[in-house]
Amino acid sequence: MKIDLFTMVDSGGCSAKIAPKQLEEILKCLPLPDDPDILVNIETHDDAGVYRVNDELALVFTTDFFPPVCSDPYEFGQIAAANSISDVYAMGGKPVIALNIMMFPAAKLPVEAYKDILRGGADMASRAGVRIIGGHSIDDFPPKYGLAVVGYIHPQKIITNAGARSGDILILTKPVGTGVILAGQRLGLTSETDVLQVKAVMKLLNKSGAEVMNKHDVKGATDITGFGLAGHALKMARASSVSITLNLKSLPLIGSTYMLTDQGCIPGAAFRNLEYVENEAHVEENLDYNLKMIAFDAQTSGGLLMAVKPEKSDKVLSELHEKGLDRAAIIGFVTEKMDRYLYLNR
Ligand code: CO
Ligand code: CO
Ligand code: CO
Repeated sequence: MKIDLFTMVDSGGCSAKIAPKQLEEILKCLPLPDDPDILVNIETHDDAGVYRVNDELALVFTTDFFPPVCSDPYEFGQIAAANSISDVYAMGGKPVIALNIMMFPAAKLPVEAYKDILRGGADMASRAGVRIIGGHSIDDFPPKYGLAVVGYIHPQKIITNAGARSGDILILTKPVGTGVILAGQRLGLTSETDVLQVKAVMKLLNKSGAEVMNKHDVKGATDITGFGLAGHALKMARASSVSITLNLKSLPLIGSTYMLTDQGCIPGAAFRNLEYVENEAHVEENLDYNLKMIAFDAQTSGGLLMAVKPEKSDKVLSELHEKGLDRAAIIGFVTEKMDRYLYLNR
């Protein structure tokens, strides 16, 4: 029996996240634990929490899991693991250990699929140098998979949403459009190349991007996932008390992303993200509607968005290219806080 996970769900990957506005409302009710060893908590909407063990070592702790973004169980496992580990890289950490988090409909799918998802996750984890040392499963439909990951970081070298400074140049390491392409695939509008490209993007670990950030002492970064490029840029601007301008014409795009958007292939998550950002963003007059919606497209296992000192930006960009991140591009810049947090320009 050929297993096709993709057709089991209406929206997979990070598009399945709770709407950002709603989530923010819910999280407000949570008391923030008060402990001087908590170096990063949910206040700055960062990719992971960071806890100090001693002056030399802090732990980066994060989890992500989601429904399938592709048909093949093994590839789904790879993508989900790459996405989970990414949050450690986005903080500048070194991922070390992980737990599997699995929801699997044992009555609806052969256990072969279960094994293949876990195998894909294990292979990707080992590529990242991560050891999976346990996990937990629930019988549930549709299947969902991801990891809880612990990484090491030096307490003085944490890269956060709050580290962007006026004058910094914004570099994005992967092309965007995963939400649009996956929606297009559902409607039968994508080419085989589109599907191959989107899977390659989602499987790509943010490891080499993080290495370049660490080498050049980058302070502000995040990875682009469910809230879309614009949503994550807004979180960074807010946490850093700066304004961010994105030049959308410079955005690297996956395959037919633009054409599909033009055909109306815009997933619901993009509109939810737009609603979240709208009041704090200024959209340039006559900005191309498709590019605007692509900026709000929910990404699964997206690239790193890093704020780089202007004198280092060329060097950082060329090193990213050398490491095989050939679509990495400068897509905007950081200024002092202006009227709005986010400016979407051509
Ligand atoms: Co993240
Ligand atoms: Co995350
Ligand atoms: Co358990």
